[in-house]
Amino acid sequence: MHEVIRLRQRNLWKVIANGFARPVLDRWGYFREDRTEGINYLRTIAGLPLLLKYRPEPVPDELWSPRRLNFLIHELHLSSYLEIGVLEGETFANVKARRRYGVDPEPIFDPVLLPRRSKFAVVTSDAFFASIRPTERFDVAFIDGLHTFEQTYRDVINTLMHLRSGVIVIDDTVPSDEYSAIPDQDESYRARGEAGLEGRPWHGDVWRVVTLLDRHHSELEWRTIVDEGNPQTLLWRRRLGASVAAASAEEIALAKQSTFADVFADGVPEYFHPTPESQALAECVESLRHGRV
Ligand SMILES: C[S@@+](CC[C@H](N)C(=O)[O-])C[C@H]1O[C@@H](n2cnc3c(N)ncnc32)[C@H](O)[C@@H]1O
Repeated sequence: MHEVIRLRQRNLWKVIANGFARPVLDRWGYFREDRTEGINYLRTIAGLPLLLKYRPEPVPDELWSPRRLNFLIHELHLSSYLEIGVLEGETFANVKARRRYGVDPEPIFDPVLLPRRSKFAVVTSDAFFASIRPTERFDVAFIDGLHTFEQTYRDVINTLMHLRSGVIVIDDTVPSDEYSAIPDQDESYRARGEAGLEGRPWHGDVWRVVTLLDRHHSELEWRTIVDEGNPQTLLWRRRLGASVAAASAEEIALAKQSTFADVFADGVPEYFHPTPESQALAECVESLRHGRV
């Protein structure tokens, strides 16, 4: 028993030492991944949260969010990335941007020890936007936090206030069925279980953001990727520098009246601009390069 405790203590010191040494170790490029694996092994033993995995190798193609974001970053020469809702950091770690900013009130990794040129705020997106300078700018953002209509719409508007001229990727904009569209996640799982259906897809009512974009935001352009991976909507300004006014409380309330059954009765509506991934990305890039559609 004493032996086990001594071993744990020894490992704990290694974990702490490795953690502090990380910024130095990071300088030797190819050591990074091995080092993180080792540190995370020790941190598991010590019951500490894991370090964000940092993968210097090419990003696996099956990770659709980094695949799409990295394409946009590369083609449009974007440098500053914001991710709202990071979870265990799979996308955050694989996005190849010069500067990365993550926001999540409950990340599943140690947000103190991060790869170079990344920052993290352990707060809600509302608190994050309330705390940053009005002049803070991002080039590309991934909105994947709380999957409710009102919160996601607020995240979109707040992000647009800090977006230079780039693009926002909104996750989960097309529910897979009426159960996945139920805004409350627990309620969605319960209803699916009662219907005797397998799996746990949940997209919430983020789709209503696109309905509101269509009704209120003629200054914005968007495409919804519907062919491979998760459905996501790419959103950008139709003209560079166009000012964006948030919809009123009445318009937001009105958008809440439409139901999944009404809107998706005949598949994804035309105003979502449903588009295959490669075409959606190409049209976004083309539009932003020329400053207009
Ligand atoms: C679907 S996960 C994010 C997955 C991640 N973007 C990825 O690609 O791997 C959603 C995350 O949103 C976070 N979240 C929940 N409410 C939030 C809020 N108000 N602001 C920011 N993040 C929030 C949760 O803690 C959770 O980690």
